[in-house]
Amino acid sequence: MAKKSKADVAAREHARRMRWWHEARFGMFVHWGLYSQLERHEWVMNRERIPVREYEKLADTWKPEPRPARDWARLAKKAGMKYMVMTTKHHEGFCLWDTKQTDYCAAKRGPGRDLVREYVEACREFGLKIGFYYSLMDWHHPDGARCARDEKARRRFLDFTQGCVGELMSNYGKIDVLWYDVSWPLPTPEAWESRKMTRMVRRLQPHIIVNNRAQLPEDFDTPEEYVELFELPEEGRSWEACMTFNGSWGYQPAPPEDWRSVREVLKLLANFTAGGGNLLLNIGPKADGSVPELATERLTAIGKWLKKYGEALYGEVDRCRRRVEWMPKGWWTAKNNGRTAYFWCSRWPGTELAIGGLRTTVKKASFLTTGKPIEFEQTRDRLVLKGLPKSNPDRIAGVTVIKLECASKLRQVLGSGYVVL
Ligand code: GLC
Repeated sequence: MAKKSKADVAAREHARRMRWWHEARFGMFVHWGLYSQLERHEWVMNRERIPVREYEKLADTWKPEPRPARDWARLAKKAGMKYMVMTTKHHEGFCLWDTKQTDYCAAKRGPGRDLVREYVEACREFGLKIGFYYSLMDWHHPDGARCARDEKARRRFLDFTQGCVGELMSNYGKIDVLWYDVSWPLPTPEAWESRKMTRMVRRLQPHIIVNNRAQLPEDFDTPEEYVELFELPEEGRSWEACMTFNGSWGYQPAPPEDWRSVREVLKLLANFTAGGGNLLLNIGPKADGSVPELATERLTAIGKWLKKYGEALYGEVDRCRRRVEWMPKGWWTAKNNGRTAYFWCSRWPGTELAIGGLRTTVKKASFLTTGKPIEFEQTRDRLVLKGLPKSNPDRIAGVTVIKLECASKLRQVLGSGYVVL
């Protein structure tokens, strides 16, 4: 047998590492820090030019309630999310864990305890995989900006950074995801010593999955806030879209219309699934740690829906986006190498639903939840499902999944607007 190349081995290891993550599909992002007290977005320090000395006072006034992470984890579980990622240190520089690198941390200031430990314990209690977000950019550290101009400052800042990341990777048991953020102000991975740092991370946490924000591609890409549903990221790279719930990562009150609706979140989940991606949906807890009511309400409904229809997205799914067309009445996902297709019907058509352009023979159509068969007719270019209820049977979100068992890989061709005769 031919000797496997290094690249093959690496690719196989990557695939093995990523498996749970792909199958999980849906995670919770948590942005929580000193900024949560101001309720004006996590960039408030920078956007309002609050001087460091003034901002620092927030470290002593922050007194979160005991163990709010249990409520987040309970909610994540209920929402059908399988993993969490929490900000251990955001751009403001305040460390949420008990660190030896600085006194500017939760254990030594207002909270008086290790908030990262509470979070880790909560994830374990509720059976969720554990992710750490870590901002490389640091507005508080005296060398955080200076490191770009001053070699000694850069060395000190890298030692600090590696010290922080090393602690996070050493003191909390198994960690599943490392989510770096903003690599300002150093211009290259060499300047950040990203390779060296991630080598250390992988030595300490051999199964960990690392994102692409330390200027190296690593395990997955991280499109943010906006993903063009018609132009999903290319095949070949794993990706996770991170999204706010209401336009701010850190807690900031917002009117109900600014919050993503249950249906919008389902639409993202369907389309990302079809494109092979994950959704990391954010909550910004209030300073006391409580979750904004609208997040709880909507996530609870999403979870209820996923409990019924989860088969259409969890587990091994196909990247089918390129093989199917957009449809005015809903979204596609597929499994089983394209032979099981799921049509997430979000605009109910009444008693008949017609789908054009299928290049596969449908053997069976049924409602996903009940398994109840649906009568259908398939002519060359048209599938017509018949005898459907007059209105959308899904009472949770108005999204009903219809399952189609196909004779061959799902493929749909409708062309660019012409009727094919
Ligand atoms: C951006 C923002 C940051 C947020 C992050 C989440 O990089 O700077 O505030 O934490 O996106 O992806």
